[in-house]
Amino acid sequence: FNVPAVRNEPVKNYAPGSPERDLLKKALEEARSRTIEIPQYIGSQEIYSQNKRAISPPHDHQHLLGYFHEGSAEDVRLAVDAAIEARKSWAVLNWEQRAAIFLKAADLIAGPYRAEINAATMLGQSKNAYQAEIDSACEIIDFLRLNVNFMRDIYSQQPLSSDGIWNRMEYRPLEGFVFAITPFNFTAIAGNLPAAPALMGNVVIWKPAFTQVYSANVIMKVFKEAGLPDGVINMVLADGPVAGDVIFKHPDFAGIHFTGSTKVFQTIWKTIGENIAAYKSFPRIVGETGGKDFVLAHKSADPKALATGLVRGAFEYQGQKCSAASRAYIPSNLWEEVKKLMLADLEEIKMGGVEDFSNFVNAVIDERAFDKITGYISKAKESDDTEFVAGGDFDKSKGYFVQPTIIRALKTDYVTLCEEIFGPVLTIYVYDDNEFEKIIPIIDSTSPYALTGAIFATDRYAIQYASEHLVNAAGNFYINDKPTGAVVGQQPFGGARASGTNDKAGSVLNLLRWVSPRAIKETL
Ligand code: NAD
Ligand code: ALA
Repeated sequence: FNVPAVRNEPVKNYAPGSPERDLLKKALEEARSRTIEIPQYIGSQEIYSQNKRAISPPHDHQHLLGYFHEGSAEDVRLAVDAAIEARKSWAVLNWEQRAAIFLKAADLIAGPYRAEINAATMLGQSKNAYQAEIDSACEIIDFLRLNVNFMRDIYSQQPLSSDGIWNRMEYRPLEGFVFAITPFNFTAIAGNLPAAPALMGNVVIWKPAFTQVYSANVIMKVFKEAGLPDGVINMVLADGPVAGDVIFKHPDFAGIHFTGSTKVFQTIWKTIGENIAAYKSFPRIVGETGGKDFVLAHKSADPKALATGLVRGAFEYQGQKCSAASRAYIPSNLWEEVKKLMLADLEEIKMGGVEDFSNFVNAVIDERAFDKITGYISKAKESDDTEFVAGGDFDKSKGYFVQPTIIRALKTDYVTLCEEIFGPVLTIYVYDDNEFEKIIPIIDSTSPYALTGAIFATDRYAIQYASEHLVNAAGNFYINDKPTGAVVGQQPFGGARASGTNDKAGSVLNLLRWVSPRAIKETL
């Protein structure tokens, strides 16, 4: 099993004067100066419907980038038929042929498509150049390349044989098709969710979020150019419930690869349960969902590292990472210094459109998100249970801008310490620095989620204590680092409890969900 050796894709820094900066600026200008039409990709067809929906940058909502063509239930049915037809040849193709296509896709993104996909992510999802680079370039490339290595590791797992007996395992694709439903906030997740099952020999219906279609279209173009046969991944642009209504009743539905909110995943799981007798096989249900990610500081923590971790963890990509630091528990001995350091950092942070590379904070994804986030902020401003530390302003006249906001909650069950806000809002609870052991069960129980968490401390006893007593509170746990920015192959990613099925994207564990192994015993 010989596959190309991999290392993580190096992050380009887009420094002034660098060639990559010039290419990216050019791609942004080109994208802003044209109006594109994005079709659905079903089998060999690009389908343009009568139902066109406008796409605009969240930071400049009056500017038109183009339209996508919304799909219907009939389009979803066509996509299922195309997938089932494509399965006949895709499922029997040797793994090397499938791997070569996805390795080629990674090379296309690393090279000729890098500027285009980053520009699409910047404009369509309002990510600054660095956030786009680590997502729509590096992370997607890493998923595509490393998954080939993980597939090799799976296929290498073979049982013992004995005298006169040759035992072997075949890792076959699922019998049917996989439904990939993806969120707006990571282009890499949008690419990986259909690509990972397809690499393992499955055919896929992919439904991106309407707010991510602009960069999803580039992913589809790359897969096609890399040689992915028609019908293996079909991108449908129907509304979630419309697509679900066709797919979850289909006998060949074999698995779901979902990332998005906990509430939507719960609805999907329930629908699958209601239809369970209709399916040929028990579907694989893989879902990565919401988070209310914590940072716990011990009195021995380094204040500077803590303040930087909080500001980056909470406000990069406007707090719209499932992994974002959204609640922090700071010991009383450190609070004043950490507050001062965070306020100094926030003074330096600029907010605005992605076209100006010096803006650290851009817009939140859409008006619905803006209204939800600012609702929490407005209530917190009026509450007797909070003190306002920073930010709190917002404005949607040009784009959906919300200032990075820090709230100090005076009660451990204040709403912004418990619920996922998915925006640039960090809530701090200051605890008595002698009560480290007492704050831990509170952290463990104030939210139903268990995605990411971090401990900042120099005291090794405190690190061990937090690690052991918060064992179920985070699928990804960080020591002296912010809780965001997992790197494929280095920190396999996923959460437990209400945060998902914890099948660790970017690892063998995830790919194992997309195979239906057959054990063969041959008497020689
Ligand atoms: P969302 O749940 O609103 O949408 C996710 C996807 O589900 C979209 O494609 C949407 O169109 C689709 N959908 C919505 N209702 C549906 C239905 N009834 N049937 C089928 N599909 C349906 O989430 P979002 O706003 O796009 O993303 C943000 C959420 O995703 C946050 O909760 C965040 O924590 C989570 N997230 C989790 C991870 C992780 O790895 N755990 C990563 C990224 C995002
Ligand atoms: N993988 C992303 C992160 O760790 C969600 O921030």
